[in-house]
Amino acid sequence: MPSTRNIEVLATAAYLFHAAAEEFVGAARAAIGAQGRFTVALSGGSTPKALYSLLASNYADFVWNRVFLFFGDERHVPPTDAESNYRMVEESLLTKIAIPSENVFRVPAENPDASAAAAEYEAQLRRFFEIKSGEFPRFDLILLGVGPDGHTASLFPDSAALDEQSRLVVANWVAKFNTHRITLTFPVLNRAAEVMFLASGADKAEMLHQVLEGKNAPPLPSQRVEPSDGKLLWILDEAAASKLTR
Ligand code: 6PG
Repeated sequence: MPSTRNIEVLATAAYLFHAAAEEFVGAARAAIGAQGRFTVALSGGSTPKALYSLLASNYADFVWNRVFLFFGDERHVPPTDAESNYRMVEESLLTKIAIPSENVFRVPAENPDASAAAAEYEAQLRRFFEIKSGEFPRFDLILLGVGPDGHTASLFPDSAALDEQSRLVVANWVAKFNTHRITLTFPVLNRAAEVMFLASGADKAEMLHQVLEGKNAPPLPSQRVEPSDGKLLWILDEAAASKLTR
């Protein structure tokens, strides 16, 4: 079990994103105070966009030069593609804050060879965290979402990446999308100092009931995120939490 698992339920999506921004900045201040830098893996999809916009508008003067941004997963598309998680983050955050470009580690997903892109990103992580083979990075914070099938990052049910135990990043074939996704693996997610899941809206309620209260065999990918020595925080709005027994 993770060191701690907390579930915060906020009345509305707006309150959810404010709470998430405070948690992000709080974790950043603590890490920068303790080690001079803050390392975070951002999530993609639609939910976190409002968080990134809020960080850009309310924390524009933050010490972004001490923040190092990575991506928890990426679609196998160039950074200019509408599907690109990098593009979403660039438009909602990066173009609005003074973060040095060398502090932003984008997945080279324009590489037509998804496995080569994953291997390159793993090499970037190993260089940055100065870790050798067999060692894993410890992110200060990893942001995650939950998909309608219980996937998180790009760790989908019944996909090969679920069983990866040695690589940091893999190209995961997602049959239902007929494409690869490039994703951090469970060993990396579960070594984070903190993992923060964000989920908003009634359409997530049934899946969140399954993930947070269900006994699934095999467990849903989102249920397998359990930082071994870290904090696990779920921030939900009332609509998303509407099927939880509280
Ligand atoms: C992605 C994400 C993915 C996402 C969930 C939820 O690249 O799509 O990393 O894991 O977090 O699919 O997506 P929404 O926030 O759009 O519901």
